[in-house]
Amino acid sequence: MFEFRNGSLHAESIPLDAIAREFGTPCYVYSRAALTSALAQYQSACAGQDALVCYAMKANSNLAILDLFARMGAGFDIVSGGELARAMAAGADPRRIVFSGVGKSAAEMCYALECGILCFNVESAAELTRLAAVSGAMDRRAAVSFRVNPDVDARTHPYISTGLKENKFGIEFDAAPGLYRAASRMPQVEVVGMDCHIGSNLIEPAPLLEALDKMLELVDSLAGEGIRLRHLDLGGGLGIRYRDETPPDVAAYLREVFARVGARELKLLFEPGRSLVGNAGVLLTRIEYLKPGAARNFAVVDAAMNDLICPALYEAWHDIVAVGNSGVARAVYDVVGPVCESGDFLGKERELAVREGDLLAVMSAGAYAMCMSSNYNSRPRAAEVMVDGEKMQLIRQRERPEALFALEHLLR
Ligand code: LLP
Repeated sequence: MFEFRNGSLHAESIPLDAIAREFGTPCYVYSRAALTSALAQYQSACAGQDALVCYAMKANSNLAILDLFARMGAGFDIVSGGELARAMAAGADPRRIVFSGVGKSAAEMCYALECGILCFNVESAAELTRLAAVSGAMDRRAAVSFRVNPDVDARTHPYISTGLKENKFGIEFDAAPGLYRAASRMPQVEVVGMDCHIGSNLIEPAPLLEALDKMLELVDSLAGEGIRLRHLDLGGGLGIRYRDETPPDVAAYLREVFARVGARELKLLFEPGRSLVGNAGVLLTRIEYLKPGAARNFAVVDAAMNDLICPALYEAWHDIVAVGNSGVARAVYDVVGPVCESGDFLGKERELAVREGDLLAVMSAGAYAMCMSSNYNSRPRAAEVMVDGEKMQLIRQRERPEALFALEHLLR
């Protein structure tokens, strides 16, 4: 949905330079068609199966995107009361919401019970105790799934690997049966499922399938002792192409999952984040200055690490392309922002034919970009724009500088 037409990069039918003129830069641009086709790919692979796709909204939680996915029938994977409030504001069906995360507060549990979510993905014995107390006090029964840590190496960046024993996530595999037994005796909770999520941006499906086999082993042995689960939630994790990777094919992966689950009476839940939104967005930015040097040439742009932290945080690689064709000679640049940190780069050693004032598109910026942005250096957060064919719509306005300190108080 992002391609060159007559030498100029377009989002669907709109040239990105027209978006920059209308809304300014930096700005995130999303393609509605790319978003809907990514979700439709999961949903059609699930057709005829008892399955639910719960979008991991941490990847991009703009209300317009949640609204779009909710209308397509998606559920949501949330990790905070804030995300629940967003999902409800976007019109999500609470009966399709699962609540993940290692540190749910009593207030968040209470809010989620009031909304009537599908289930809590419980990550520790202590959390189970607290949830039982909260639901008991409200005279409710909380639906519980335990997030089991299968101790499988996701073979991804260590900061986004979650399924190893040394990670804080989930319940140790060997401790899970004991917890299931304890929970099934508690009147304040109803044991409904099992979940796992071993990491993000996996470029091969093998670790996911290895985790699935371990989950199924556990599901079967629990069934053997009379603890029958209604659903199995396999989390998210499928990677996308940022550069030249060949990420797992969604349909092929899901086919393999359904084949391994076989005739078991289990509803399957999936929590994809990145693979639904990652390639549906770009970060549009303008070159402020070119700064040639003996060791490096720099292209100083108006977007920065506060808009896209992934290169600094995970050594993530995003393609960076010139939006138009200025006809100048190519040179190699480090593309950097105005923030006062040497870690403030969007890409290093990129060959670009550009002049001051040209627009660049940082590709694959639909996931974990805006949602991880900050106001560091008192930089207002960038605008977000949705393109739909020949239409464009502002879905989040650029922050005003005054808004950055509106909640602060001078000393009395
Ligand atoms: N479910 C759970 C419980 C998760 O923790 C996550 C992501 C997902 C689903 C969605 O995973 P995905 O399909 O997007 O891989 N900020 C990092 C990624 C952090 C992922 C955190 N959890 C990055 O930019 O690479």
